[in-house]
Amino acid sequence: MLTISNLSVFVGEKKVLDDINFIFEKNKIYIIMGPNGSGKSTFAHSIMGNPAYTLSKKSRIVFNNNNITALSADKRAKKGIFMSFQSPVSLSGVSVFQLMRTAVDGNLDVLKLKEKMEKYAKSLHIVQNLMERSFNEGASGGEKKKLEILQAGILEPKVAIFDEVDTGVDVDALKLIFTFLKQKRKQNTYIFITHNGKILKYVKPDVVLIFKDGKLVQEGNAKLIQQIENDGYEKNKGLAS
Ligand SMILES: Nc1ncnc2c1ncn2[C@@H]1O[C@H](COP(=O)(O)OP(=O)(O)OP(=O)(O)O)[C@@H](O)[C@H]1O
Ligand SMILES: [Mg+2]
Repeated sequence: MLTISNLSVFVGEKKVLDDINFIFEKNKIYIIMGPNGSGKSTFAHSIMGNPAYTLSKKSRIVFNNNNITALSADKRAKKGIFMSFQSPVSLSGVSVFQLMRTAVDGNLDVLKLKEKMEKYAKSLHIVQNLMERSFNEGASGGEKKKLEILQAGILEPKVAIFDEVDTGVDVDALKLIFTFLKQKRKQNTYIFITHNGKILKYVKPDVVLIFKDGKLVQEGNAKLIQQIENDGYEKNKGLAS
């Protein structure tokens, strides 16, 4: 469904990702872990089409048989790829409703959109005030994460990448977020980037991927997370570079 081939990514002169090859399948849940700076967020941004990252000539990203390597982020989003940011940005003068209205691009009636957003905000315990003010302006870390999740709920992406959605979020909010995602999930593929093994309490991954030094170094199941929780990345023999 989403095929990543020979993905090497540069930020300026620096090679941040080195020849990543992987196929994400429909309707599966993936967890990506790895040390700080190993390239996880870069991987997410590259799939989303963030222009700040330069791909090598050999890099290819194919989504449902379409080569999307050269497509803009906007076009990728329209094809059903979504990413929630590790550090969500603020948008002055634009409310989350206005943002979503642009994103759904007429595919959802304005009143229905409003109704849906209010319902989802309630499920996620997002206060009305946050829905009305400029997007993310003055929002706490956890509130920003909830607004990212609300967007995923509205957009119903085929592939959603959640970059550290569980970081900086209290235990009740965490429960709300994962319950919400579970309820809204249809045939989507979810990719969770995380540092926290506790995510297993909420998510049952089909595949766990480990990044290290810009490479995809190991693939396994939930047991791999437990192993890393116990031993760390350095001691884990399978990860020796
Ligand atoms: N825009 C950028 N400018 C400069 N360096 C960057 C940029 N984006 C990524 N890098 C570098 O690329 C490497 C990988 O960064 P990335 O954010 O992908 O790591 P990560 O695995 O998500 O780390 P973390 O777990 O801390 O979020 C780091 O060394 C980082 O400093
Ligand atoms: Mg990151």
